[in-house]
Amino acid sequence: MEEINHVAVLDFGSQYTQLIVRRVRELGFFAKLYSPENVADIGQPGAIILSGGPRSTSDPDAPDIDFETLQGYGVPVLGVCYGMQILNIKFGGAVKASDRREYGPATMHPVAHEGLYEGVTAASQVWMSHSDTVSELPENAKVIATNSHGTPVSIQWGDRFYGIQFHPEVTHSHEGNRVLGNFLMQASNLQKFSIDEFRREIISGIREKVGDRQVVCGVSGGVDSTVLAVLLHEAGVNMRAIFVDHGLLRKGEAEEVVNNFHRMGVPIEKVDVTERYMTALAGEGDPEKKRIIIGNLFLDVFWDVVGNAELLAQGTLYPDVIESASNDNSKASKIKTHHNRVDRVIELQAQGKVLEPLAELFKDEVRELGHSLGIAKDILDRHPFPGPGLAVRCPGEITLERLDVIRECDAIFINALKEHGWYDKVWQAYAGLIPVKTVGVKGDERSYEWATNLRAVVSEDAMTADWVELPTSLLREVSNKILNEVSGINRVLYDISTKPPASIEWE
Ligand code: XMP
Repeated sequence: MEEINHVAVLDFGSQYTQLIVRRVRELGFFAKLYSPENVADIGQPGAIILSGGPRSTSDPDAPDIDFETLQGYGVPVLGVCYGMQILNIKFGGAVKASDRREYGPATMHPVAHEGLYEGVTAASQVWMSHSDTVSELPENAKVIATNSHGTPVSIQWGDRFYGIQFHPEVTHSHEGNRVLGNFLMQASNLQKFSIDEFRREIISGIREKVGDRQVVCGVSGGVDSTVLAVLLHEAGVNMRAIFVDHGLLRKGEAEEVVNNFHRMGVPIEKVDVTERYMTALAGEGDPEKKRIIIGNLFLDVFWDVVGNAELLAQGTLYPDVIESASNDNSKASKIKTHHNRVDRVIELQAQGKVLEPLAELFKDEVRELGHSLGIAKDILDRHPFPGPGLAVRCPGEITLERLDVIRECDAIFINALKEHGWYDKVWQAYAGLIPVKTVGVKGDERSYEWATNLRAVVSEDAMTADWVELPTSLLREVSNKILNEVSGINRVLYDISTKPPASIEWE
């Protein structure tokens, strides 16, 4: 898509900046992310949004923006959180630094139900995450919304600059989409977002980047790598799709993945390297070390199979990038190293040898892209499954025996969800292992066995998740079946933790 009349989002480092891009796409318009330093090189935008950020405007090296250039575009501008504070300073107002943070839900009251707040209720829940506050308004400013104490939470400067202290892009701001939509209504002729055009653009970008180089594409059977492999196949580049069976897959998964690729007409090569993985992981109990061993071994296997690969294609999504953030070039903090973000991948990336066409997208957007590529619904609707597989569902050391126990419990749970019509209502579900032995009674005998944890969550984008209130009758059926049929398990637990503070996987 050409960068004309698009929505330019300037990233001041908030965890949620990419969500703004996504919301704009959901509202039907084409958005693109830029660094504020490059404000002079954002094409011909139709509207500009300044994101939030973790810094204080009073920090000596706080991110800044060339205000004259910004004004020169002559289009509506919206500043969110940090973005609002910096605009207020640029217009001649002031911001007060504070070490007290306002974090969480708050109530916002529009002054009038027009402009940004047309159709927004009189007391609307919004999500706040800030320390500094606007303390002095410049002459051309008017307050357009306040919080319950009458403090300004939204300001308009002149007739096309707007600021909001809350985050409209997170779902906890109940009418955030409406506020964003109202802002975009202030712009004229915004470029529409179309998934078909987006697909064509990704495919032509792939052709351009790959040229006649040989690409190795790691596939896991999950939605992301499947969509990626189909994109590469459609692009007609010189690609070898490698499916690594590391022994950390679920029951029957290897056969299912090969069969799915066969259905799509995309050739894949399956390599069975279970022994190699088990040897490399033997005795290792540390979650980060396990992830790094697994991620590095993927690369060794790819290069062993395809000796002369010049490019590595990965189905990395935006949440993987943000959660694996390394402190050098990201402002977000590291939660866990996703398998496609180990140091060796970062090194290859620095050499321009990594292709990640999906890195700006969220899971549901990838599904939509997959749909537009003609991939069957049952393949696209598979629950996400992490690259490190069952290893992150088995805290501590991994052994073949533990993996087999997880596979049996998981198959029972997933089959029950499918039989009772719950599989498609749940975003992701699995059974994991708690490798702690406890005492029980089985068949009149003392048992001393492990516990399995069942997890079923709903999520929009994997950044946050909530556990699902499955019917107790379903949980009872699954529990009975596991306790009767899986040797090694004498306890079944249901995980009722939200993310945050927990995460979806246990490691
Ligand atoms: P967490 O556990 O961080 O997981 O809440 C969020 C989502 O990401 C998946 N996940 C991964 N996917 N490689 C992947 O491809 C990884 O290393 C990885 N770690 C977590 C997880 O299954 C969930 O959908």
